[in-house]
Amino acid sequence: MLGNPWRRAAAGLALSLVAALPALARERIDLATGWRFQRGDPPGATAQLMYDVRPEVKASADGKVADARPDEAVKASAGAQDRVLKPWVLPSANPFIKDPAKRHRRPEGHPGSEVDFERPGFDDSGWQAVTLPHDWAIAGPFLETGPYGGMGRLQTWGPVWYRRALDIPAADKGRSLFLDVDGAMSYATVWLNGKLVGGWPYGYNSFRLDLTPWAQPGGTNQLVIRLDNPPESARWYPGAGLYRKVWLTKTAPVHVAHWGTTVTTPQVSAQQATVAVEVRVDNDGGKAARVDVLTEIFALGDDGKPMGEAVVAALKPQVDVPAQGQGVVTMSLRIAKPRLWGPKPHQQPHRYVAVTRLQGKGGVLDRYETPFGIRTLRFDANTGLHVNGQPVKLQGVNQHHDLGALGAAFNVRAAERQLEILQAMGANAIRMSHNPPDPGLLALTDRMGLLVVDEIFDSWERKKTPLDFHLIFPDWYEADLRAMLRRDRNHPSVIMWSIGNEVGEQYTDKAGAAVARRLHEITREEDPTRPTTTAMNFAKSDMPLPAEVDVISLNYQGEGIRQDPEFIGTDRIRTPPQYPNFHAKFPGKLILSSETASALSSRGVYLFPVTPANSSITRDGRGGDSKALQVSGYELYAVDFGSSADKVFAALDAHPYVAGEFVWTGFDYLGEPTPYYAARSSYSGIVDLAGFPKDRYWLYQSRWRPDLPMAHLLPHWTWPERVGQVTPVHAFTSGDEAELFLNGRSLGKRKKGPGEYRLRWDDVVYEPGELKLQAWRDGKPWATASVATAGAAARLELKSDRADIAADGSDLSFITLTITDAAGRPVPRAETRIRFSVAGPGDIVATDNGDATSFEPFPSPSRKAFSGQALAIVRGRAGASAKLVVRAEADGLAPAEITLYTKDTR
Ligand code: GAL
Repeated sequence: MLGNPWRRAAAGLALSLVAALPALARERIDLATGWRFQRGDPPGATAQLMYDVRPEVKASADGKVADARPDEAVKASAGAQDRVLKPWVLPSANPFIKDPAKRHRRPEGHPGSEVDFERPGFDDSGWQAVTLPHDWAIAGPFLETGPYGGMGRLQTWGPVWYRRALDIPAADKGRSLFLDVDGAMSYATVWLNGKLVGGWPYGYNSFRLDLTPWAQPGGTNQLVIRLDNPPESARWYPGAGLYRKVWLTKTAPVHVAHWGTTVTTPQVSAQQATVAVEVRVDNDGGKAARVDVLTEIFALGDDGKPMGEAVVAALKPQVDVPAQGQGVVTMSLRIAKPRLWGPKPHQQPHRYVAVTRLQGKGGVLDRYETPFGIRTLRFDANTGLHVNGQPVKLQGVNQHHDLGALGAAFNVRAAERQLEILQAMGANAIRMSHNPPDPGLLALTDRMGLLVVDEIFDSWERKKTPLDFHLIFPDWYEADLRAMLRRDRNHPSVIMWSIGNEVGEQYTDKAGAAVARRLHEITREEDPTRPTTTAMNFAKSDMPLPAEVDVISLNYQGEGIRQDPEFIGTDRIRTPPQYPNFHAKFPGKLILSSETASALSSRGVYLFPVTPANSSITRDGRGGDSKALQVSGYELYAVDFGSSADKVFAALDAHPYVAGEFVWTGFDYLGEPTPYYAARSSYSGIVDLAGFPKDRYWLYQSRWRPDLPMAHLLPHWTWPERVGQVTPVHAFTSGDEAELFLNGRSLGKRKKGPGEYRLRWDDVVYEPGELKLQAWRDGKPWATASVATAGAAARLELKSDRADIAADGSDLSFITLTITDAAGRPVPRAETRIRFSVAGPGDIVATDNGDATSFEPFPSPSRKAFSGQALAIVRGRAGASAKLVVRAEADGLAPAEITLYTKDTR
């Protein structure tokens, strides 16, 4: 029995501590409901509500090659006559600006207060009622013409307003009140009771604003948030709105600071780990305070709650915190036989939580939880990454932040489903391309045991699109970088910090390297335990940029870029394979491929002829169809600067010192539909936008899960128009050899040679019937696969990923529809229109089919199937434990139903 934590920790310190734990001083209220939303400013108001003047957009950057050289910024600055809000917003960055001389001084006054929309008495009852997280752009409609492919053909730009009443009781007088925003896209400006509080331009970061000076305890307070996404601000769909959670945090004046704890594990062995906890304590009050700081460590349960008794505790008594100042406490705790955090599947992601309490004269002032993990990382230039002493090859994917048909609005289950699908493929790592994720995503990667490269910027001073982050980089880079680092540094899943992706400063020699050095220094200051990196698609080993970071991250350079003869003489990047050059120049630095492949395909679409090569650029007749806007699913085609998965594997195997790869991308994402910018979403995912695996999924699985007996055949085998024509058959298997049979006849055995990752029968002549594959490993039967010719579409089939979901207004069931023939065989090219409906207290939130060219709005309950499949995403209404019956109907086909159960878990 460990007994009372205060007494236990205080034992021997002769302290008289109050034993009882009174009502906790910290409250964190999820402001999910009660919002009103409106698009557009009141007439004439925009000019006085802009964060800053923006340069004129002279030409759209839509469809620009992804690796085009970024341009120099166009400067636009506010003139004396411009009434921009920037001077009032910049002070929000102050807590993250190290040099006091560089902090911003807030001017007098409250600009914008003459605008109706932010007045407390304004009648917003006619505005749309919304709940958060909310992405206002995802419902569409899609912009079918114009240069909008890059940003997903959804209008994300223009000012929008959110209003919400906050009831702040009189008892809150004297407390500190904060607005904590997990993410607002973008250029947020916040007013409370008609007073300008501050804001945060960068849409991907989390931020805190202090409401205390403007709050009026004892009544209703009016919170107003204006967002203002620029057009031409991203190379992908950025999302729009209060797309992450927004919290009201209440604390005593003396409280643990914002992201105020840092937990590191300087020494770890099987017998013992040392846990160093740093706690920063803020005193917002007018008098100096003296507090006792206690930290207890518990094992953390899968439900995110501390489990059982504390395993260890430490006390720092009588810490002085000056008025309006900060006190810093460091503690060192020892855990015997620590349960380590490590990536799945070979290690387990055990987690702990540090529970910190501040005790003042009157009792407990604050209680603050810091989840963390105990693990060691070693970055070895020759043998790659070692976690807890074990080598771990990075089998990673890049992920953008959107959740397909749900848009950018973060949803835990939708994100968890993505990670589950990727883990089942064998992925053990995610690169957060190219921005900090929702904090909930890192909670998932911690719990699920995935390694993370956390990335902050896609551009620095030079621009990729006319109105991207470069506009605010000079003013905000320090605050944005420190904000990400402070928020994310306790996550065991995060293994390194990426300060940039393919930035224009690769081209500016020493000047660009100086920017990198500054970002590297900041990163070191906030977290000396993890390395920095920056993803390079242009910088070579003899340029100054790579010398500034700890880990060499190459995009596409390992395999070589644009080696196809078509590019000789063009001004595009052409680079022979670069691993050996970097390894020779930086013999002490770990090298990884932060982007590989960028291979393209449309799920279930196969185009002929099939290239005999193991990798090809995509053109009409070479895997592409510029009329149908689809790319062949033979999984051999890539963007101009990319490579097929096969070619990437060969390059990695030829350079075993490379620590692994991050495929571009795990899932398809909204926007950047290279090579067809008339479409809405990407072709580069291993998994399509709806979450259905493309054939490539099994190619990665065959390599990443070598011990899983598996085999997969492509293409489908329903080709009435191809009878008598050559129709190549390819197989992906974790075996080393296989024999293919067509209608019982052997088409021969094939064995994987060195540098080969698929088995190909390129001369098969199509006839209807059944293809069967017997795969072998080490001469023993290993796995089988088969595919049969389907008859006419006859019925619908429904499958759910989960039949039991929480009725919490957030949990989801993902329902896959497959069109089959009368015998239950999938009909691979069916495009029938499906109508989904739900009986019971549930809703179809969105539907999709993974077709990059589909312009049906995502909320539509009616959707055409694509390659025989469609998806419906169903949510139970909050508070109702009930049965839901989801039904799918289509003209001329037998309907299908599936039953779900929702449970009120509150
Ligand atoms: C890379 C870039 C990614 C994406 C990808 C598309 O150059 O870093 O963000 O644009 O190309 O192939």
